[in-house]
Amino acid sequence: MSILFVCVTCRREGEPPAEPRPGARLHAALKAHAPDLEIVPVECLSNCTRACSAAVSAPGKWTYVIGDLDPERNVDDMLAFVRAHGEAADGLTPWRERPVHIRQHTIARVPPLRLPEELK
Ligand code: FES
Repeated sequence: MSILFVCVTCRREGEPPAEPRPGARLHAALKAHAPDLEIVPVECLSNCTRACSAAVSAPGKWTYVIGDLDPERNVDDMLAFVRAHGEAADGLTPWRERPVHIRQHTIARVPPLRLPEELK
């Protein structure tokens, strides 16, 4: 099963300071809609200029960092992507099958960590 890391300290540029922060609201909304998923709060994914931010990862799979997430608009997009990532053996999901927001706001993807003996 994939793990979703959500930055709870994110706030979006140009918006007045708000508490709870948009990142914390995104985390709460995701948890409320998917109590079966592992959703971990983190502080800063170094994607502050494209907040809100989240990352999807799992052992042996590609990791994706997603940005520009709106806590009121993108909860379903993010959850659909997490579930698709979990079903893919290597975490790579067909581009056309990803929610549009995910296609357009993927910040980075990082290959799975391999043990040194696998690299020989
Ligand atoms: S505060 Fe959320 S990515 Fe930096």
